[in-house]
Amino acid sequence: MRKRILAAVCVMTLAMSLVACGKKPAGNADTTTPAATEAPTAEGPTEEPTLPGIEDAEGFKDLYADYFKIGTCINPAMLKNLNYRQFIIKNYNSVTCENNMKPESIIDRVATVTTSDLSDGGTHMVLSFKNLATELDFARDNGIQMRGHTFIWHEQTPEWIFHVNFNPDKEFASREVMLKRVDNYFKDTFEWVEANYPNLFYAWDIANECMGDNNSMRDSLWYQTIGEDYLEQIFAIARKYAPSYIKLFYNDYNESVSAKRGAIIRMLKPIADAGNLDGMGMQCHLSGANTVMDVLNSVRKYSEDLGVEVHITELDVKQSSTATDPEAVQANYYKALFNGLKNLKADGVNITNVTFWGFVDNLSWLKEDKPLLLNRDMSPKAAYYAVLEAGMAE
Ligand code: XIL
Repeated sequence: MRKRILAAVCVMTLAMSLVACGKKPAGNADTTTPAATEAPTAEGPTEEPTLPGIEDAEGFKDLYADYFKIGTCINPAMLKNLNYRQFIIKNYNSVTCENNMKPESIIDRVATVTTSDLSDGGTHMVLSFKNLATELDFARDNGIQMRGHTFIWHEQTPEWIFHVNFNPDKEFASREVMLKRVDNYFKDTFEWVEANYPNLFYAWDIANECMGDNNSMRDSLWYQTIGEDYLEQIFAIARKYAPSYIKLFYNDYNESVSAKRGAIIRMLKPIADAGNLDGMGMQCHLSGANTVMDVLNSVRKYSEDLGVEVHITELDVKQSSTATDPEAVQANYYKALFNGLKNLKADGVNITNVTFWGFVDNLSWLKEDKPLLLNRDMSPKAAYYAVLEAGMAE
């Protein structure tokens, strides 16, 4: 215990000096293969490391255990790397597949057009879960729970699923046919999950990015084929089939911009009132344009106005391209955000998860903007210590 506290103090001291001067610790130069962190050098016999590296710090999931789960997205390429796997196991108690559970990865075109009954316009999309084993086995075998991501979206979704007989040359399928397709899609997925990975998933982004940036519902093919009540319909279907331990979430971006936030809340209210919404997912792809206060106010507002849980689902913070010390600015942002989230939780706001969209900059979908906590070689950035320090603060 004493060792753990001392190590924590060492890390905090180092963290404060790093955040203050905005420098990353001396480490390996950028290389393509992440290297293990160097062992601390100790002069003379001491049981404490003099230079705590990542391996000496407590994991985020433990530091924030009294507040919320801490998560990351994962993908099969990440899991091939032992250092990444160890970092995930140590730091996170929630993971989300970055891409492999999206419609284009799950819905099997060949099987659908060759084996399903088309006499009724085609109401059954055949699903294939074969690409999921690496990620789901990893989570299950390491006792990490998962967020499902995502069913209904306008991106990474094949266009042919909206047409009669699944034939892109035919007209769009009717509302009735599309609702049956959704019914079968959700039923088959939840049955498969329950049969193969019971209790692994605890939350699911049923719908993603359905609000337009013009603050009215996005004119997606889901909207066009099913109609303006499509979100209410699909959440009711999800409720019918989801195991009771899986919470139903709506997820969106630019969700802290006040006009869009208001529009999202108005759109979701009837679904929450019907008892079919358990949570709001705030993607939180952030930059200096979003104040920490806007984000914190939004967490509170979604939770209180809708009466649901809030998850931060895809957190990253772009480094500034103009600041003299962009790493320090980013670190201060992360620190203020995590301190604020802890305060909100202590104040009774129902935030239960904070998931980062990755951990190593070079694997981020926004890698040009270096939005995450570790450099390519896994050496920690100031932002890593900032999140650690906020987690250790009383
Ligand atoms: C991104 C992935 O990170 C990329 O690998 C992929 O090429 C595109 O999608 N909002 C979401 C996520 O809900 O699913 C997106 O993930 C990022 C934006």
